[in-house]
Amino acid sequence: MIKKLWGMLTRPSQLSLGVILGSGFIAGGIFFIVFHFTMNATNSMDLCISCHEMDGVYEEYKQTPHYNSASGVRATCADCHVPHGKTFGDWIDKFLAKLTIGTKDIFQHTIGTYDTKEKFQAARYEMAQHVIENMRKRDSKECKFCHSLEAMDFAEQGKSASRKHKRIMEKGGKTCIDCHTGIAHEEPEEPEEPEDED
Ligand code: HEC
Ligand code: HEC
Ligand code: HEC
Ligand code: HEC
Repeated sequence: MIKKLWGMLTRPSQLSLGVILGSGFIAGGIFFIVFHFTMNATNSMDLCISCHEMDGVYEEYKQTPHYNSASGVRATCADCHVPHGKTFGDWIDKFLAKLTIGTKDIFQHTIGTYDTKEKFQAARYEMAQHVIENMRKRDSKECKFCHSLEAMDFAEQGKSASRKHKRIMEKGGKTCIDCHTGIAHEEPEEPEEPEDED
């Protein structure tokens, strides 16, 4: 009897091994599915608007060709603001953005840092600089999911556009966001330095 028990403990049967492996796969699978859908659901425009509808950025975006255009291609908030791509580095950037920006957004929203449109407007310049900085770091990669210099018909473009684009195609050095801010929202103006009282 004792020998039998000892045997079961030291030599796990194929059945128990199967059970352990099987439940491991199932748990991993469930984790993956939940994780995948959370990452996708948190990209939806409805979610972004649930907080950003009143602060002006959404209203302004609706007036731009990134919302409505003849071709009917829409760039949603996450298309421009959430890093994506095929490399592992892209995935890490996306995950980190969700972790840091996402929790910061929710935190500031919950404690009501910008509970009026005025307060949000006052902070916009700073936020815009932060967004631009992040896009520059990624070499405007999110823009390039839809736009590419190679696919541009320079003959269709205005003189200054085609000249600039040809130049960066040949020489590099500049990235889309260096020249194209204020494309989805009005570019916030730099606040004036507060006057010295005395
Ligand atoms: C729970 C409410 C909430 C949701 C949902 C939300 N935001 Fe925000 N967001 C905020 C608040 C509050 C701020 C300002 C606080 C801060 O500095 O992060 C902010 C700031 C931002 C900024 C400027 C951040 C910076 O870099 O300084 C961007 C860009 C942004 N949100 C985009 C999005 C996008 C895109 C989505 C949807 C994927 C989204 N937000 C969903 C509340 C929210
Ligand atoms: C999901 C696809 C998509 C993404 C992402 C995207 N765009 Fe666009 N962009 C478009 C479409 C579609 C138009 C409108 C074309 C038309 O008028 O038919 C457009 C128009 C433009 C225009 C000309 C109109 C204007 O508003 O001046 C510029 C400049 C531009 N995009 C720059 C950018 C930059 C910079 C980024 C990254 C921050 C970006 N786009 C991200 C699809 C996209
Ligand atoms: C050195 C500055 C510069 C850079 C960098 C630059 N552009 Fe432009 N772009 C311009 C100018 C100037 C125009 C014409 C005025 C305007 O629409 O803002 C233009 C126009 C455009 C247009 C509208 C074209 C039309 O005729 O409808 C699109 C789309 C665009 N750029 C996309 C991009 C994308 C995508 C990148 C990055 C790959 C980029 N640009 C990089 C300067 C630049
Ligand atoms: C076509 C790309 C694009 C789309 C689509 C887009 N944004 Fe932006 N967003 C930008 C850029 C570029 C900036 C940097 C500031 C600027 O250029 O106006 C910015 C800045 C911001 C800021 C910082 C405050 C400010 O006014 O600059 C917030 C918040 C923001 N976006 C939220 C959103 C939300 C919410 C949506 C969807 C309703 C959205 N954005 C859609 C490109 C985009």
